[in-house]
Amino acid sequence: EASVKTSQRKTLSKLTCSPGQARIVAYKVAVLGAAGGIGQPLSLLLKMSPLLSNLNLYDIANVKGVVADLGHCNTPAQVSGFTGPAELADSLKGVDLIIIPAGVPRKPGMTRDDLFNINAGIVKDLVEVAADTAPNALINVISNPVNSTVPIAAEILKQKGVYNPRKLFGVTTLDVVRANTFVAKQKNLRLIDVDVPVIGGHAGITILPLLSKARPAIEFSTQEIEELTVRIQNAGTEVVEAKAGAGSATLSMAYAGARFAESCIRALDGDPDVYECSYVQSELTELPFFASRLKLGKEGIEAFVHGDLNNLTEYEQKALEALKPELKASIQKGIEFVNRES
Ligand code: NAI
Repeated sequence: EASVKTSQRKTLSKLTCSPGQARIVAYKVAVLGAAGGIGQPLSLLLKMSPLLSNLNLYDIANVKGVVADLGHCNTPAQVSGFTGPAELADSLKGVDLIIIPAGVPRKPGMTRDDLFNINAGIVKDLVEVAADTAPNALINVISNPVNSTVPIAAEILKQKGVYNPRKLFGVTTLDVVRANTFVAKQKNLRLIDVDVPVIGGHAGITILPLLSKARPAIEFSTQEIEELTVRIQNAGTEVVEAKAGAGSATLSMAYAGARFAESCIRALDGDPDVYECSYVQSELTELPFFASRLKLGKEGIEAFVHGDLNNLTEYEQKALEALKPELKASIQKGIEFVNRES
């Protein structure tokens, strides 16, 4: 328990310290879709990290301006730009971590699954080149629908013979960030103290915050549990509607993506105390992919935090059973997409 808290406290701390404060480490990160609504602020946050030596920004357009702009920040990471498929492989050479926020976002009235037809192909194409060029890198998939794009990435990596399930992650950190924020506000707690594991997947009812496992231990009424759960599940839609056609969450996603990326890098660097929730290949349930709390290490996933699924409340147990058919169908859809294409 103590270590989870430490992990949460450390999060983003190094990202925001001044260049002179941290010891020198040199990790290389590529952002694919770097000129987009998420890509730009995510790249900014990564540029602030003293853990990075290189930040490779790839997109199909508009990268040059982002590189010129970010390159003027006096932090150590060397920013390089790569535009279009012909430069994709170069952007991935020697990188430790690949972050993928490429693809179209939702508009009001759309589900994440409505993005499948466009984003499935984008993720497939990017991961194919990643498999050939940086087969040992960690991969963080942000592009929606995450419930399907992660299985797609896994199938591609399998086809290429380089799949390491410990190194492929669907980024669900924003669900945790939202859960922590909403619970802290509701219960008048300090934000830094609150940590709510969120399991399942990353769409609608597949997002399952385990409020009974929140730290510190918090008492909730039945009504509070229902309202908080639904708000966390619909928080993405809250932003989509507020933006009224201009896209989905970008700034909070960039924050969450940077937090997850920094956790990955700290783990690669040997920090023994890194825990995050993520959507990964899993044996915790009968579903082949599932989001849960993980311990990260030098080789990616080091361990699953099994305890989170023990002693669920009746509400959580029911919600877990209810999400399984949808999550299973999304996984199947992703796997079938790759097998149909090949
Ligand atoms: P955006 O449209 O602002 O940016 C997407 C970027 O991807 C654009 O710059 C575009 O040029 C680029 N792109 C398109 N095709 C590409 C390709 N083949 N290779 C490289 N880049 C390509 O969209 P935004 O708001 O940045 O969202 C990106 C994705 O992230 C969406 O799929 C969205 O649903 C997802 N998302 C995921 C969240 C999560 O919690 N995992 C939260 C919020 C959004």
